[in-house]
Amino acid sequence: MKILVTGSEGMLAQDLISVLGENNEVMPLSKQEMDITQKDAVMKNIKSNAPDIVINCAAYTKVDSAEEEKDRAFQVNGIGVQNLAVACAEMQIPLCHISTDYVFDGRKNKPYTPFDAANPLNIYGESKLAGEKYIQWIMNKFYIVRTCGLYGRGGNNFVMTILKLAKERQAVKVVTDQICSPTSTANLSVGIKKLIESGSFGIYHIADDSGDGISWFDYAREIVSMAGISTEIIPVTSEEFPRPAKRPAYSVLDTGITRLAINYMPEKREVALKKVLSRINL
Ligand SMILES: NC(=O)c1ccc[n+]([C@@H]2O[C@H](COP(=O)([O-])OP(=O)(O)OC[C@H]3O[C@@H](n4cnc5c(N)ncnc54)[C@H](OP(=O)(O)O)[C@@H]3O)[C@@H](O)[C@H]2O)c1
Repeated sequence: MKILVTGSEGMLAQDLISVLGENNEVMPLSKQEMDITQKDAVMKNIKSNAPDIVINCAAYTKVDSAEEEKDRAFQVNGIGVQNLAVACAEMQIPLCHISTDYVFDGRKNKPYTPFDAANPLNIYGESKLAGEKYIQWIMNKFYIVRTCGLYGRGGNNFVMTILKLAKERQAVKVVTDQICSPTSTANLSVGIKKLIESGSFGIYHIADDSGDGISWFDYAREIVSMAGISTEIIPVTSEEFPRPAKRPAYSVLDTGITRLAINYMPEKREVALKKVLSRINL
């Protein structure tokens, strides 16, 4: 397949491009090469490259800054995705778009399925939901992939932040009252590849297997313990550790439908983490 990947310098895109490249022709486009908020540039690039599918890894991902930069978040995560959907629909090719667990409000206490109602708590989540809606209004052949707590070698993420802080400090405070399902970009890339080869269009959840979930606090303890660092991880509540954007208390993703549709079996979180840690310079 000829696959055009947007936002090619982002954390997920870097792993995805190498996984897809094993048996596809991949056309990576960075923000500089194609700004998805520029409607004409999007149409021109998609027409001239004539891919079989577009995978959108471009996004505004600064969850806290989005509270102040609402227009920018909606411009990229809403209108930018609308531009891609219009161009893909005109070219009659599918769009695979990456979305987030933050479309949910976290009031559930068991994993969210793609059939649960979205109700975002913050601007980032609202803007990502806008992108999902444009795709569904404009297209009929699409894959929307929601994921959670991404980490990989090439980007800023929770694992890298905890490792950095744990090396600098004797103790690090982490919230106990937010439960999620952290996911390695390497595993998500394998899932996306399987999905776009399937032709099974729809909304899917892809996340590593954390059972009913893990708190950021327990996850931070797992990270330092696996990395052999003795820094103390101190539990705090979200109230004690206020951030500009409100986060869902529970946003574990249920991957059951993804398993049924494309036989994707998520890897255990601990196994995935061990693999990523083994590839970075601790
Ligand atoms: N990270 C997570 O924990 C997480 C969790 C759930 C879902 N997701 C979703 O997963 C996807 C990938 O996330 P990620 O962590 O890989 O994000 P990332 O590292 O921030 O990558 C996003 C890329 O998009 C680029 N970009 C921003 N605005 C653009 C525009 N107007 N046109 C083209 N490119 C643009 C960014 O460039 P600049 O950096 O130069 O702006 C960056 O290279 C996103 O859709 C995100 O919402 C992420």
